Amino acid sequence: MPSEVYEQIKSSVDIVDLISERVRLRKSGRGYIGLCPFHDEKTASFFVYPDTQSYYCFGCHESGNIFTYIMKTEGLEFREALELLAGRAGIELRTYEHKRGERSLYDILELSANFFMNNLQSSQGTAARAYLERRKLDKSDIERFSLGYSLSSWDALINFLRKQGVSDKMILASGLVSQNSMGLYDRFRGRLIFPIHSISGKIVAFGGRIIDGDGVKYINSPENEIYSKRRNLYLLDEARKFIREKRRSILVEGYMDALRLHKCGFREAVASLGTSLTPEQAELLSRFADRCYICYDSDNAGKNASLRGMYILQEHGLDVYVVNIPEGKDPDEFLCSNPPEKFEDALTQAKPLILAHIDYLKPALSDKSRKKSAVQELIESLKKLNPEEVLQYRAQISEAVLIPPTELEQRIFGDARPISRKRENFDVNTPKLEHEDQLEAGFCAMLMTEQFCRLSIEPVEVYEILSNETAQDTAYAILTENPESLAELWLSLGDVDKLGIIERGKNFCAQIGNIKASEKWEKIYNELMRKKITRKIDEINAKLRRGEATNEELQELMSLQKQREIYAR
Ligand code: UTP
Ligand code: MN
Repeated sequence: MPSEVYEQIKSSVDIVDLISERVRLRKSGRGYIGLCPFHDEKTASFFVYPDTQSYYCFGCHESGNIFTYIMKTEGLEFREALELLAGRAGIELRTYEHKRGERSLYDILELSANFFMNNLQSSQGTAARAYLERRKLDKSDIERFSLGYSLSSWDALINFLRKQGVSDKMILASGLVSQNSMGLYDRFRGRLIFPIHSISGKIVAFGGRIIDGDGVKYINSPENEIYSKRRNLYLLDEARKFIREKRRSILVEGYMDALRLHKCGFREAVASLGTSLTPEQAELLSRFADRCYICYDSDNAGKNASLRGMYILQEHGLDVYVVNIPEGKDPDEFLCSNPPEKFEDALTQAKPLILAHIDYLKPALSDKSRKKSAVQELIESLKKLNPEEVLQYRAQISEAVLIPPTELEQRIFGDARPISRKRENFDVNTPKLEHEDQLEAGFCAMLMTEQFCRLSIEPVEVYEILSNETAQDTAYAILTENPESLAELWLSLGDVDKLGIIERGKNFCAQIGNIKASEKWEKIYNELMRKKITRKIDEINAKLRRGEATNEELQELMSLQKQREIYAR
């Protein structure tokens, strides 16, 4: 990242202004004071310093600058926070494909969106406007969602972009134009256009719906440098604020469904854009709220998609509820013929994942020839869930599959995972958390936030304890420099790797559960030591097998095995 852009953004956005939008600040000494946005408090201990453009909370010790503030409060990654703040400051972020004097892909999409919007208002947009009217979308909706229309022409957009001075190479790179032996031609023709925004609010792609005649109902921009359909959700840039506020997201299948929900006041809705939900999209949603209401069409394709989707969401730590819309309608149709309260009722009656899965399987469960495989399907799925969640619905599951609870537990968890294990036993040992990098990140995050951790380690030790190089550098820096100013320093250097490690580490620590910091530290430290010793043991064993181990190494092996017991779980 070019550091001058970073500096430019930093000097254009005033931290007091930015934070004042959310926190009521009053002047105090050399800075401002208010209630901390990062933890619950009744007396103010959150300070904002205009001279250093930073903040610090004496209660929870959160500290940082405009970038960390946006990352934290908006749930964004560094790059996304940068884009958001750049937009706020009216500064253009150069993308790497953007050469001197050439327009960036973002510019081209923005230009094209304007072109599509103008088309819709022009005399050639009459049919499209009529179509929108039939779909019960009015002028204010068109503006609000920047809807447009692509003319029934093979080269209207190409000609427009060429006139704007965009090169054919960039026109092709935008994905809005295709090429065959005859030359270039517009990809979207005679379609209603839905711009798709990235999470930071930039247009990255378009969806286009046919308005009459034959043809594929929807087409979308192809993927390119700025658009990955796995990583975007339609209307998420609008919805994320409301997802946070309402502490829930609503996931639907189609553009029209998402639009309709927003129009009817459900501004926490997003659409998954024609693909089945991806892990990346689930991760995105999990940043903003813990609950997700999945509301797919009630046809068979929709049911299967929502079944897959709900387990992906659950795997990403979301509590999933499956909304059933009566009369086999999609959310758009439902809200066109029912008041919003009826949809809210459907949300209230939404079933938690396990019960929804049982519902799906009901027909198969009561059919002799299909029952066995349905039970097997359910059990396989339940194996993926946290035992606590499964146990909560033990009675209902047992009743649905007609297997006694104890036998059921046996079949789901086997001998390896006895039911009596409590939550604290699912800590660093569960597969999701065992990932070594996460442990190392957790180690760094604790060093960053807890003084007692810093006091317990010598800087050189980090090279012994950690194996990941970035983690080693991060931990070493924390132990040798002032941790409070480090985040700032890394940001100014654009050192996203170190910041990322701290972020991931904090998440990891949060996942360990609600135990004392000292206990968390002990768990992480012990686990890392055990891993380190195991690495050495494996090395020597490998030598032994090759007949290369020395006597000293044999002795070391025995002492290592003893040491490892000290750090055993
Ligand atoms: P649906 O066929 O359920 O359409 O596809 P819809 O959203 O109800 O659309 P309307 O109400 O008829 O206008 C759901 C989503 O699947 C993707 C689109 O994202 C669509 O919104 N899709 C569908 C495609 O990408 N291509 C298609 O041909 C059809
Ligand atoms: Mn529809």
